[in-house]
Amino acid sequence: MTNIMSHAGMHPVITGKEALNAFGTFLNDNKDKYSRIFVLCDENTIGKCFPVIQHFFAEAVHKIVIPAGERNKNIHSCVRVWEHMHQSGGDRNSLLINLGGGMITDLGGFAAATYLRGIKYLNIPTSLLGMVDASTGGKTGIDLGSYKNTIGTFTFPEIVFIDPLFLDTLPYRYLKDGIAEMLKHGLISSANLWTTLASEIKSNSATEISSLLKEKIILLLDESIRIKATVTSIDPFEKGIRKILNFGHTIGHAIETYSLRHNTDPLSHGEAVAAGMICETFLSGKLSGLSAMEQEEITSAISSFYPWCKMPEDSFHDILQLTRFDKKAENGKNHFTLLNKIGEAVTDRDCSSGLILESLSFYNNVYSLSPHS
Ligand code: GLY
Repeated sequence: MTNIMSHAGMHPVITGKEALNAFGTFLNDNKDKYSRIFVLCDENTIGKCFPVIQHFFAEAVHKIVIPAGERNKNIHSCVRVWEHMHQSGGDRNSLLINLGGGMITDLGGFAAATYLRGIKYLNIPTSLLGMVDASTGGKTGIDLGSYKNTIGTFTFPEIVFIDPLFLDTLPYRYLKDGIAEMLKHGLISSANLWTTLASEIKSNSATEISSLLKEKIILLLDESIRIKATVTSIDPFEKGIRKILNFGHTIGHAIETYSLRHNTDPLSHGEAVAAGMICETFLSGKLSGLSAMEQEEITSAISSFYPWCKMPEDSFHDILQLTRFDKKAENGKNHFTLLNKIGEAVTDRDCSSGLILESLSFYNNVYSLSPHS
């Protein structure tokens, strides 16, 4: 068991096989501190994950269940959480425990941050994406229609408990979602993490994940979480270095929003970020000096593992427009995070519309010319 951030001051993150036992101890140590305890789940985690932690509660706990999926990360689900807490006598000393993937920890954090002007919350992420990204660092939020995370706060959880046991039953598509964020952590901050992960994913097909890869991922979890936790503790409110975490996300979020609007089976966050990383690798070659060799290394690894999110040419202008709604945009101008080499990122790079459009064509070319397409 590792306590990743007790030294850094923002919030502790407990990881490893004993993390859930540490959660039990936390509940026991704090049993007089909270007037009511609520557990927020979605339709999946209530059946698959809540039974795993149920025995830690001495008394009956208030369960709140909302529909699963990114499309439900909206104000309606949030109202359900607020109403449930209100009707069950939730006061300012209540604690909300978010048990689920990134959708649950984002939305639950937001519901807690705003209920009675803020109650305490903690996260127990159950997806790889939640473990390596969403649960840590205090970004809370909901989508505004299909605009991602447009409403939200920076509000830090009391503590985060990350136990890899929840990964045992996670479908491969969700594992790949989290792997995209781990690859990003390597690209922006650790050449070693990138190289290890890239060589692992290259030997796995785009449709299956071997149990060996799963084991390797679990071994790399701490390094990935440590990168996220360190960066967010240095710059909790995203004034500077935290922006490096946005690599792949300016175009990735635009592609994700486009897909949420147009596809019956929309892209997952990780699939969209994987596509965004290929586009922004191209931009890094043009604008921040990323070498041709490293561009090739990145695009070939990512494209061998993530399926082609086919984007017809007539979608390009819509996607370009959507990049303007990125939360980091100012006066309609994007500020991209790019790479100057593997393991090192630069922030606040302007990019012309023409180059963004070229990067989308580059993405399609990578796949149409690849032997996997
Ligand atoms: N997911 C990026 C961040 O937390 O800043």
